[in-house]
Amino acid sequence: MPARQSRIRSPEEIDRLLEVERLASIGQLAAGVAHEINNPVGYLQSNLKSLSEYIAGLVELVDGCARLIETQGSAEQRAALRDLRERLDAEFIIEDIQSLLEESRSGVAIIRDITLTLRDFARAPEGRTEAVELNGLIKRALRIAENDTKYVAEIETDLSAARPVIGDTSMLSQVVLNLVMNACHALDSGGEIRVRTADAGEDRVAIEVEDTGCGIPEDRLEAIFEPFYTTKPEGKGTGLGLSMIREIVDRHHGTISVTSSVGLGTCFRVELPAFGDD
Ligand SMILES: Nc1ncnc2c1ncn2[C@@H]1O[C@H](COP(=O)(O)OP(=O)(O)OP(=O)(O)O)[C@@H](O)[C@H]1O
Ligand SMILES: [Mg+2]
Repeated sequence: MPARQSRIRSPEEIDRLLEVERLASIGQLAAGVAHEINNPVGYLQSNLKSLSEYIAGLVELVDGCARLIETQGSAEQRAALRDLRERLDAEFIIEDIQSLLEESRSGVAIIRDITLTLRDFARAPEGRTEAVELNGLIKRALRIAENDTKYVAEIETDLSAARPVIGDTSMLSQVVLNLVMNACHALDSGGEIRVRTADAGEDRVAIEVEDTGCGIPEDRLEAIFEPFYTTKPEGKGTGLGLSMIREIVDRHHGTISVTSSVGLGTCFRVELPAFGDD
């Protein structure tokens, strides 16, 4: 068997490969963590639902007993009931217990959303084509990005696409997340990110991610899609985001375009084939 040729790589190239390798390992780790968390989160969610129902039943039972004592109990029993209510601060507990449960349930729902999205992202793309509902996918991606966006960006959404697209959920999630993260990084001193979906013509759906950030000079509008093109400081960006996006959009038989004004902002538009019902 002939020995594999190994060509000499420059230190910069080795650094980039190491960075790509590091990101891939983080992706795998995240997928593993998401998978492990998903199971306990699932039963937490269902237990909290049962608990809410049980507690509503118990409150009803306690109320019924109290009413009985109030109407038919002896003076002594009524006084004991009053004491007990005061000592336990029963009214407050009954009120608070509902909001505690409600808060816990919505917290768990957020964790579940995040783990499901993490799993979506980190899952090796399967190249499957299915109907992908973009509006939900975008909301989940925005939730994942929230950690980074919340300090710099006001997010506005107008998700009015009525049709799903044909594609791979994991890959399309990557596209949206990367566009949103790029928009966020372009907003050094704060600004807006607007994410829109709309039906485009008969058989396409459009996603637009627009920011009010630094913009891109006209003579760079092609270069940004090249692998490893980045204006971020060393160690901050791989420059692979947009080349990966273009690759994914091509595989989906879609198109990507960009318009930008330096100092005013940038808008990326992706069009994808709609999932037909015919
Ligand atoms: N919304 C945007 N506003 C301004 N410049 C942008 C925007 N999106 C991309 N760019 C420019 O395109 C370059 C390449 O983007 P790409 O996503 O490919 O890599 P990156 O963001 O630099 O690195 P990584 O995606 O690994 O964080 C960016 O470094 C930036 O100069
Ligand atoms: Mg990027």
